[in-house]
Amino acid sequence: MMECLGSAPAASTATVLENRQVGPGCYRMCLENDYIARCTLPGQFVHVRIPGSSLDPLLRRPFSVCLVEPSNGAFLVLYQVVGRGTKMLSALRPGDRLDVLGPLGRGFEMPRAGAGGGGDDGSGGDGGNSIGRGSGAVRVALVAGGLGIAPLIMLSHALFRSGVGFVFVVGARSGELLAGLDLLPRAPGRDAVLSGRSASPEPAGPEIVQGAHVPPNGCDTATDDAGPRYEVHVVTEDGSMGRRGLVTDALRDVLRGGDIACAYACGPAGMLREVARMGETFRVPVQVSLEERMACGLGACLGCAVKAREATARSGRTAYLRVCADGPVFWVEEVDLDGIG
Ligand SMILES: Cc1cc2nc3c(=O)[nH]c(=O)nc-3n(C[C@H](O)[C@H](O)[C@H](O)COP(=O)(O)OP(=O)(O)OC[C@H]3O[C@@H](n4cnc5c(N)ncnc54)[C@H](O)[C@@H]3O)c2cc1C
Ligand code: FES
Repeated sequence: MMECLGSAPAASTATVLENRQVGPGCYRMCLENDYIARCTLPGQFVHVRIPGSSLDPLLRRPFSVCLVEPSNGAFLVLYQVVGRGTKMLSALRPGDRLDVLGPLGRGFEMPRAGAGGGGDDGSGGDGGNSIGRGSGAVRVALVAGGLGIAPLIMLSHALFRSGVGFVFVVGARSGELLAGLDLLPRAPGRDAVLSGRSASPEPAGPEIVQGAHVPPNGCDTATDDAGPRYEVHVVTEDGSMGRRGLVTDALRDVLRGGDIACAYACGPAGMLREVARMGETFRVPVQVSLEERMACGLGACLGCAVKAREATARSGRTAYLRVCADGPVFWVEEVDLDGIG
């Protein structure tokens, strides 16, 4: 069995166990690859070469690892068909094999045990990015726009196993575009907070209300039922599921509660900018997972560079960060979010 080598990436082959449509243009693909299943950390991604008749498409395509099951050597990717590569991916069948490079990138920084341990002065104890500012903070917030939910699902499992409570705020244009909610950790006592109401929530779709965990073949996750309680807030722009509005409307209400130690976000650029602004307003540190077009995925070609924030630019010159190697997860203080998307 290959050692994880500090999560160093390896190029290898993955076998498709399942590839099924779970929404309009949205697919869930379960792959077998022991190294990735054992070595991936929440927020890391794989770079997949799409098999074609020739070298087209030449470049690999990056996808977040959504879930892993080390005991079965399986991992899960949730993806949306947006172009040629993902269209070809959607045609794959069980038994097909893919060339996969990973795990790649810097993932989410986990809260320390008992989130909320930052200094009361907001400075934290680890270079200014301590998770948890203020002594009352006890939970973290996960904020997903559309398929931005993918890396946050794996994070939610890690939090659940660590006993860290969380609020998962997830939004999409309409209910049919919400995917992956059934992959959240099992938690019978979980609060389903729909439409902003915490008491007697209205049914808003079987995936949420039943709290069912419906794993794809070979991609169950090893959580037990004794984890912390967590809430799921669902928001859709057309009101077809959960509260009507934007995911950031629900996040604002959550942050007003005052007990959020840190927020993690993945989704469209506009949403990330708004989450960053709210983090500043409510003095909550924010980590964002960015998606940029990529070539090498290994930090060599600079094809995925984004501007660093002024504070990190040296000698007045613009500094750049590589999303594939320095990210994809960044603290909002590190990166110029106005320059993305
Ligand atoms: C770290 C990372 C993690 C990602 N995780 C997921 C995931 O879990 N699920 C998922 O569905 N998608 C994810 N993406 C986006 C995914 O890589 C692209 O949608 C995919 O590469 C598009 O390939 P394509 O050949 O189908 O589209 P193309 O024909 O190459 O492009 C079609 C459209 O998609 C846009 N696009 C292409 N590549 C990217 C990219 N890397 N990021 C953003 N937009 C892109 C193009 O600008 C264009 O508008 C992730 C991207 C990154 C960088
Ligand atoms: S894709 Fe080559 S440096 Fe990031």
